[in-house]
Amino acid sequence: MTDNDSEGLKIDAQKAATRVGLTSNEIIINGGSPLKGRIEVRGAKNLAPKAMVAALLGTSASILRNVPNVSDIRVVAGLLALHGVQVTRGAAEGEWRLDPSNVEQAHHADIDAHAGSSRIPILLCGPLLHRLGEAFIPDLGGCRIGDRPIDFHLEALRKFGAVVEKLPSGISLTAPNGLHGANIELPYPSVGATEQVLLTSVLAQGQTELRNAAIEPEIIDLICILQKMGAIITVEPNRVIFIEGVEELRGYDHRALFDRNEAASWASAALATKGDVFVGGAQQEEMMTFLNVFRKVGGDFEVHDDGIRFWHPGGPLKPVTIETDVHPGFMTDWQQPLVVALTQAEGVSTIHETVYENRFGFTDALNKMGANIEVYKDGMHDDARRVMRREFEQAAIISGPTPLTGAEIEVPDLRGGFSYLIAGLTAEGQTKVTNLGIISRGYENFIEKLRLLGADFVYEG
Ligand code: EPU
Repeated sequence: MTDNDSEGLKIDAQKAATRVGLTSNEIIINGGSPLKGRIEVRGAKNLAPKAMVAALLGTSASILRNVPNVSDIRVVAGLLALHGVQVTRGAAEGEWRLDPSNVEQAHHADIDAHAGSSRIPILLCGPLLHRLGEAFIPDLGGCRIGDRPIDFHLEALRKFGAVVEKLPSGISLTAPNGLHGANIELPYPSVGATEQVLLTSVLAQGQTELRNAAIEPEIIDLICILQKMGAIITVEPNRVIFIEGVEELRGYDHRALFDRNEAASWASAALATKGDVFVGGAQQEEMMTFLNVFRKVGGDFEVHDDGIRFWHPGGPLKPVTIETDVHPGFMTDWQQPLVVALTQAEGVSTIHETVYENRFGFTDALNKMGANIEVYKDGMHDDARRVMRREFEQAAIISGPTPLTGAEIEVPDLRGGFSYLIAGLTAEGQTKVTNLGIISRGYENFIEKLRLLGADFVYEG
């Protein structure tokens, strides 16, 4: 060992002595200081993986730009690679090239091992049936926010002519007579089922009419991608989409729509911490409903060409009543981060969660930190409702303002997890957040972004 080496070891030992022994899945946040600065959001986690699946339908390579570095993307890239798609990173950051020239069947065990907790594999069904005549989908994961069944997907695929066989390890599909256009009415405007229909109908023989479709901006962006590939898709009023099947699609070149869920999360963090955050890449149109609520709660914002600045203008925050809904309603993914800000509002806020049946589990930890949130597991009666009541909905009543104090809390799911970061940043004292890894499913470089915004924390990952 040279002198230099031993000096290096001494320095490492000193560093180790100052470490507090966190795993890479944990963070300690010293709360109480406002988030201030600028961060960038990239392409939507709820669009980019589906755009990558669409590449399977082309006869030539596709290029997707503005792809976020989140684990859902890595799962889909791996799944596509298992099916013979050549997946390469472009020279520019966030650029992916997907060449489907040699699509092939993958082993069930490999698909199963690779799919992890993602729900995206279900969307490979239509494209794989077109390309290979068969598909296998393992048991699906995703966040623990309800049953999240796939019955709408399977029903739609059957209408296109797919034969579905349930196996102990997953679902096997074949299309002995090819896939043909269908008339489909979804029982609920499901985002995933609408994507399923789009990805299957574009190459199906004949016309497809989809009623009660989801029309989220990410779906419209997927339609734009498919149109670039050569598809003929008409979006009609009243949630009707017509698709005229074509014989062949080519690759696309597309910049993914920004992630409005991430943008809304940082906006809520700015509000809860009395901060001022410029979210680069955020756009107004896709966030209109959120912006209205943000203003009603007492937040302020400014729309710029290259992003939106969100801040707490001082004075008390005001309580609100929100019903989550499909687009253009208030997204279910926006409620968890906002709930933390609402714990600081003066008065009683109500949130009716109508999209998922179990999306208030995260509030237990907030109560442990001093919040006053009561969850009604069967929902609540409210005469002033706009969103149709669903069988399984729940409601949360948030009474504020309640100071939050640090605690040890474990991330339950993606959006709940981000709300815990906000709670830690808002609270007095130290908060230890464990099971942090889930957050990287949907928030690119969030540790780095916290640093950029001046958050005070210890992370040793
Ligand atoms: N549903 C069914 N049967 C189905 C499909 C859906 O009953 O076959 C129900 C679901 O159980 C749920 C409702 O319909 O109650 C809506 O589900 P949807 O299909 O719209 O959701 P998804 O496509 O599985 C996507 C996002 C979610 C987001 C929802 C709603 C992705 C990968 N996920 O899920 O994002 O909350 O749309 O906008 O795009 C997140 O980002 O944290 C997240 C959960």
